[in-house]
Amino acid sequence: MRDPAETPSRHRPDAGGVVVSLPIADAEATTGWPHRHLLDVDQLTRAELEQCLDLAVEMRELRNRRETLSTLRGEVVGLAFCEPSTRTRVSFELAATALGAQVVDLPIEASSVAKGESLVDTLRALERTGISTIVLRHPMGGAPYLAARSVGARIVNAGDGAHAHPTQALLDALTLREALGPLDGKKIAIVGDIGHSRVARSNMHSLTALGASVWLAGPTDWVHGFDDWPGVTVAHSLEDALADADAVVALRIQLEREAGGEMRSLRDYTTQWGLDEGRMELARPGTPLLHPGPTNEGVEITAELATSSRSLIGTQVANGVPIRMAVLSLLAR
Ligand code: CP
Repeated sequence: MRDPAETPSRHRPDAGGVVVSLPIADAEATTGWPHRHLLDVDQLTRAELEQCLDLAVEMRELRNRRETLSTLRGEVVGLAFCEPSTRTRVSFELAATALGAQVVDLPIEASSVAKGESLVDTLRALERTGISTIVLRHPMGGAPYLAARSVGARIVNAGDGAHAHPTQALLDALTLREALGPLDGKKIAIVGDIGHSRVARSNMHSLTALGASVWLAGPTDWVHGFDDWPGVTVAHSLEDALADADAVVALRIQLEREAGGEMRSLRDYTTQWGLDEGRMELARPGTPLLHPGPTNEGVEITAELATSSRSLIGTQVANGVPIRMAVLSLLAR
């Protein structure tokens, strides 16, 4: 066990808590982290993606042993969610708390935004209260980039419009790496409402950076414009996308982004693109299924598939906390 006095201060255990012994692999002891914000995964090199996933594994082990860290002791993390969220918001709160931070929730409908205050003015006010990290979910693509240019606090993108959802991509990569091993040469099919999906865009960056080939399948309008992404193939049919796939990621039909208006009907969508056990047989035997959630059961996937033994949906949610612990602690370096 490492002498706590030699442990980097942000990883010292809480007073009265369990002395935390960090594995040798803990990168904090040897290297820093060059990024102040996490706006999307396209800002990360392959080595940085892997560093984040490796640190998340360490964080999960510490959390499983109910050990607490003081990485963010004395810091305040603000959760500014301007769109609904269950998984992301709760796991950021748990992650920040597990790292010793105080967490302030900003229910946007109860904030001065409701009185017409701009996003930037709201975030500046938050910063003046001593908040050092702002976790921002916003319906406008690019809002976290504006925030990062406007305030001194660290900004973590918790999902901006249809643009990016970097921590979802990181937890998906961790889930896939643990299910499949190294992702080099693996075929990952992403099926559904790709055009409106920040998850799909971030996954395209991270999965291809980690060596996978990504195949997209969905209605023509929703896969338009992705042909020239490096490492990404737009499939001509669901069958082409699923053939020999090592994993399948189903996406939610985003009715709030008017996805429903572009479809003749959800029933048509389900008939053509919906996933069930029968269609999953087109992929490799036992191929795992992921979905970022929340699911529209009976639309993009059946309830049976969502709860089947091949479903990693619960694992994705569980991996959200250690991934967000890793992100928050890396940004604090
Ligand atoms: N996957 C995801 O972002 O879920 P929430 O909207 O519940 O946070």
